[in-house]
Amino acid sequence: MSSHKQANDRIAQLRDEINYHNYRYYILDDPEITDSEYDRLLRELQDLEQQYPDLISPDSPTQRVGATPLESFAEVKHRVPMLSLANAFSEQEVLDFDRRARERLAVDEIEYAVEPKLDGLAISLRYEDGVLIQAGTRGDGTTGEDVTLNVRTIDTIPLRLQGADYPQVLEVRGEIIMDKAGFEKLNQARREQGEKEFVNPRNAAAGSLRQLDPRITASRPLSFFSYGIGEVVAGDLPDRHSAIIKKLQDWGLRINPESRVVSGAQACLDYYRQIQAKREALSYAIDGVVYKVDRLVQQEKLGFVARAPRWAIAHKFPAEEEMTEVEAIDVQVGRTGALTPVARLKPVFVGGVTVSNATLHNQDEINRLDVRVGDTVIVRRAGDVIPQIVRVVKSRRKDRTQKFKMPTQCPVCGSASERLEGDVKTFCTGGLFCEAQRKEMIKHFASRRAMDIEGLGDKLVEQLVDSELVHDPADLYALTETQLSGLDRMAEKSARNILSALDKSKNTSLARFIYALGIHNVGETTAQTLAQHFGSLECLMTADEESLQAIPDIGPVVAHSIVTFFSQPHNQEVIKKLLAAGLHWPDVEIRPEDALPLKGKTFVLTGTLTSMSRNQAKTALQALGAKVSGSVSKKTDYVVVGENPGSKAAKAKQLGLDILTEDGLVQLLE
Ligand code: IVH
Repeated sequence: MSSHKQANDRIAQLRDEINYHNYRYYILDDPEITDSEYDRLLRELQDLEQQYPDLISPDSPTQRVGATPLESFAEVKHRVPMLSLANAFSEQEVLDFDRRARERLAVDEIEYAVEPKLDGLAISLRYEDGVLIQAGTRGDGTTGEDVTLNVRTIDTIPLRLQGADYPQVLEVRGEIIMDKAGFEKLNQARREQGEKEFVNPRNAAAGSLRQLDPRITASRPLSFFSYGIGEVVAGDLPDRHSAIIKKLQDWGLRINPESRVVSGAQACLDYYRQIQAKREALSYAIDGVVYKVDRLVQQEKLGFVARAPRWAIAHKFPAEEEMTEVEAIDVQVGRTGALTPVARLKPVFVGGVTVSNATLHNQDEINRLDVRVGDTVIVRRAGDVIPQIVRVVKSRRKDRTQKFKMPTQCPVCGSASERLEGDVKTFCTGGLFCEAQRKEMIKHFASRRAMDIEGLGDKLVEQLVDSELVHDPADLYALTETQLSGLDRMAEKSARNILSALDKSKNTSLARFIYALGIHNVGETTAQTLAQHFGSLECLMTADEESLQAIPDIGPVVAHSIVTFFSQPHNQEVIKKLLAAGLHWPDVEIRPEDALPLKGKTFVLTGTLTSMSRNQAKTALQALGAKVSGSVSKKTDYVVVGENPGSKAAKAKQLGLDILTEDGLVQLLE
């Protein structure tokens, strides 16, 4: 910053911005930016004011720590000020802190009381003759708000101390928190009632405590941990922090079970790592650990700087929320054809890693966040959880940004995309052609219940696609023995077997073929219904939604899927290629219901058939109106027994059912 004038302008700008965020944070309990961003703004202002001291004014946000008490609460004066803690963000800063303290005390090693740093809000509880008479928030450190009535509703805060050896006046300092489960529940209830959700447990705790109506506070899941003391009159206390905390527990106050006493800085760092590893599993939110010199005589020798003690430091975890910019929103196509929008972010260090992408899931999520290209967003990454965009910082939105809409065409193959009723996902409809879906599509096409191409397993499909021998299902039928035997782990004999299986699969049924196309929402049963109803592929391909919906069991969603699928030029091409390769099926006779000779009969197939596969037998029986079931029961009409039958044959005998041999079946089918 070169000129005085420029500094003056920037200072004014920073003060406005900081005041605005102070208001959002302290008064509305609804912060808009992350803590780290707020700290950056404040630091920039502090630096400028240090450089140009004549520009410091008494109303600058740097000249006051904390918040203005709400007018509606009475004031509480803290006779012993409520201090803040210096922060360490690296191990080196902790080592420096320890070294300075050892030098001042002229000792080799210091014992530290170590505790989690709770992410709630500080409170001072004043007990006189063992009775809770006042509770005050920290406010600016010397003047806070009187929230006694609200604090009295918190179960973990005793209204009267236990035992008898407590001082006549005892101020207990600690943190009011809302645990994670209570926070989730509260937000869920607010969501359901259309109320604004709290950003994090700390804001929820603050918002709940600063209610003018104590009944609201009482309904919120707040709790309390004590971590220190303020004013003490007429009473003897131990000479160590850790021992005082134990006393507080004896008197009925809750203390943190993770608290320890350790020797030296290295042990502090070990503790930091232990708590960090445990962080997710803790039921309440923490944002670091605190190291406090345990012996009070040493604390006194060390004293204070500005508003923080020299005998304690907060070692913070890396921030879990950071701000960054959305540079682009890309759409990825998954193996199943699902379109997923992904935000490309200006790289940002958050939760211990650099993040440059965040999934936006689907159009509903994008609408909920109203996230747009160019937006400033808050990214959150907690633990091992994948990074999420939490919200958009609307006050930083640039002019002329546009709402994001999922593309109407698949970004990979250009086919139409569709979002079906009742589905949050958008899908590509170019299944036969789309590169993103190739492998899954061809695996499905070759599978046993579809084209039943023996030997063409998942691994082989992947090899064929990766080596670019196969782009769509029709390419399978153009494969040569040389191409196949050139693949990894493929003997000549197996290559020949696959070619013959491919050849054999050309003779199929219309129902199998329809199923093999992999149309969304068209399973085996629907494929059969369609084959039976239309009798030919041409009729099905030219059917409109209305005539499809006229078929029993076919609703508007399925009808729409079918029409969209067949209207994709790319899909039409692949179907043409398949027919040209020689795929064929017997004409399906369209007959009235009563002409189905096996209608109402249930068959069970067991053992190996020699003249056809079990699947082929099943298709043939179904074409005649029969139901084919997987298990034998009293309702079974016929059990077809092949070679080496299983327990089903025995069960059939036991039940006295009609048994058909393979010959009998063939005769019946003929
Ligand atoms: S001791 C003189 N211990 O952190 C030391 N504070 O940045 C006073 N906090 O306002 C605080 N957990 O709200 C202390 N175990 C802990 C704490 C803790 C959370 C908060 C507290 C305080 C702020 C200081």
